[in-house]
Amino acid sequence: MPITVNEKSRLFCIETDNSEYQLMADSFGVLRHLWYGEKVGMSMEYLQEYPDVGFSGNIYEAENLRSYSLDTLPLEYSCGGVGDFRINALSAVHSDGSFALDLRYAGFKISNGKYGIEGLPAVYANDTEAETLEIFLKDTASDISVTLKYGVLPKLDIITRSAVIENGGETGVFLTNAASLCLDMPCDYNEWIHFHGRHTCERLFERMPLLHGIQESSSQRGTSSHQQNPAVILCGNDCTETNGGCIGAMLMYSGSFSAKIEYDQLEQVRLIMGINPALFRWELKKGERFCTPEAVMSYSGSGFERLSHNFHKVIREHICRGKYKLSERPVLINSWEAVYLDFDDEKILAAAKEAAKLGIDMFVLDDGWFGKRDDDVSGLGDWFVNPNKIKCGLGELAKKIKALGMDFGLWLEPEMVSENSNLYRSHPEWAIQIPNRKPMRGRFQLVLDMTRTDVRDYLYKSISDILKSAEISYIKWDMNRSICDWYSACLESKNMGEMPHRYVLGLYELLERLTQDFPDVLFEGCSGGGGRFDSGMLYYCPQIWCSDDTDAFERTKIQYGTSFFYPISTMGSHVSAVPNHQTGRVTSLNARSVTAMSGSFGYELDPSALTEEEKTEIPMQIKRFKNYRKLIHNGKYYRLTNPLNDNSALWEFVSEDKTKILLQGMQFRAEPNFMRHRIKLRGLDENKKYVIAEDERIYTGNALMSGGVLLPAAKGDYFAYEIFITEAK
Ligand code: DGJ
Repeated sequence: MPITVNEKSRLFCIETDNSEYQLMADSFGVLRHLWYGEKVGMSMEYLQEYPDVGFSGNIYEAENLRSYSLDTLPLEYSCGGVGDFRINALSAVHSDGSFALDLRYAGFKISNGKYGIEGLPAVYANDTEAETLEIFLKDTASDISVTLKYGVLPKLDIITRSAVIENGGETGVFLTNAASLCLDMPCDYNEWIHFHGRHTCERLFERMPLLHGIQESSSQRGTSSHQQNPAVILCGNDCTETNGGCIGAMLMYSGSFSAKIEYDQLEQVRLIMGINPALFRWELKKGERFCTPEAVMSYSGSGFERLSHNFHKVIREHICRGKYKLSERPVLINSWEAVYLDFDDEKILAAAKEAAKLGIDMFVLDDGWFGKRDDDVSGLGDWFVNPNKIKCGLGELAKKIKALGMDFGLWLEPEMVSENSNLYRSHPEWAIQIPNRKPMRGRFQLVLDMTRTDVRDYLYKSISDILKSAEISYIKWDMNRSICDWYSACLESKNMGEMPHRYVLGLYELLERLTQDFPDVLFEGCSGGGGRFDSGMLYYCPQIWCSDDTDAFERTKIQYGTSFFYPISTMGSHVSAVPNHQTGRVTSLNARSVTAMSGSFGYELDPSALTEEEKTEIPMQIKRFKNYRKLIHNGKYYRLTNPLNDNSALWEFVSEDKTKILLQGMQFRAEPNFMRHRIKLRGLDENKKYVIAEDERIYTGNALMSGGVLLPAAKGDYFAYEIFITEAK
């Protein structure tokens, strides 16, 4: 039983194999957070002895007890306006204009299995894999109740959180903040990690000391964004890949989010994570309820490596869905960097013929095949084939590509519309813009109002017609701008503070319909590369194009940061041509393949332009990848260096039974006159004996982990390594 309750002391314990979470409803009915960390086997209430802290007031019922303050105690779901002056999880404006909420305990329920969330993606698990705890809270003065939901997957060390807010009062209220997660902790955590960046440079790892006051990682762009990712880690300054306590929290949400951390006056830490309140004002009428997105948490007592393994497992097995969730992904070639928008069917077929000879599984036709799309100023929204470019028609093109022995995939950007398109000419009101204001353009395009059912129905019909018109095995779902100018003529309330979240709900609804109705199609997410790389999208698309930067060196940093939460199978990663189109850098074909193999592997180049030597090398790369594919996607991933600080990016995959190991990576700059580097492996069986390919010697697991593997001497910059190790027979 992972969830236990002591009804007398109203103490709730959620246990996983390696962690424990405790909360307690105290004698005032205040729900206090007691613990999240190592298994402790007793109530951790004894830690909560508080002094009388000046200017931290006391609840009325505390009478003379000046040390009892909502402003200092660790709370489970903090509210504003009643004396907790730290950042809070829930705020509402009542009909009289006041904005206080005082939630007190009103009961609990434990059930088997994992709860779902209306209209939103959530971790799923069956009755033997998970349990759910619901804690009921109520603000008596307003009749607003909150159900805090906790899902526990004990074997995975995963705890999920979501809240349902219901208005049982007579009048409406406006929610101005409704977080998914509030987590109060003692001062053991004095650093935090977030993943920042920009277009072509996403999810860069950044670790910082917590400063007194508030720090935040967030997006207000309508998507989870290139600039910040909805996932943060709290840790002590001694935490490493393999040692120390850390907590990871990831929001399963593809819209504007906020993860705020307050390091308070008593050096306690509070994390609040959820929909970004800056773009949120939700009217909750009498009898209505609001469900927050899912937050997923994990604690590791042995560093970031274990934390990542926990998140990788929950994403692969309990978030990704459908046919491709665990199955092998096709090696694809994408037309974008090969031809951009300049092609016709003959050019595409010529490229496809060359690609087929290389042993590629799928040809993906990227942007430019539809409407009038010869540049990026026009065509979006007109999801029918451009007969001037694809003269033979989409069905015929797919057939011809199939005849070459490859599957066919297609690019779409469903949420967008160009002003120069038939769709915009007939439905200008479908584009998001505010009456009497000029809208912002991003890449010359406007965003469709995904809150409208007619827009979603149009997109569903257009996309399903395309999917039925040709044998299409894959869709790349792109999205190429940030969203602003929030306004929808269809929102009766005229409350645009609801629109950013309603947009995300609309997007999820459309994705749900399409992925359910076309279960054999592999959907790959994309937003100008990795601008919407989040676990909400992974619920619908088991892989996401990791970045528009295909430069092998830059990719090592991007994929390093991405790997802290997201599994390797989710990262679309391709070998492209050199000089690289984003950086102008030249790296060897081998270095490019090794980097791209640490992902859902493919190519993004013109196969007709390859040299004879490259034409011989690529089929061997594909063969190598297919040999390693199971190990790469199903094995455990280890980060052996930090490419942001070190002169190399090295990583390792270890099979579940520890009999196969793949060490890959790259030394960035060559050094003269130096010893061979060695790298200590991790995750091997210390008692097993291993052989390294092309090496006669037998190694013990212990030797490879304590002494390490001697790497070949690097010749030239961006020198790639790939070493395969197996258990000795
Ligand atoms: C952005 C994507 O990330 C690219 O791969 C490509 O599909 C372009 N959009 C096409 O416009």
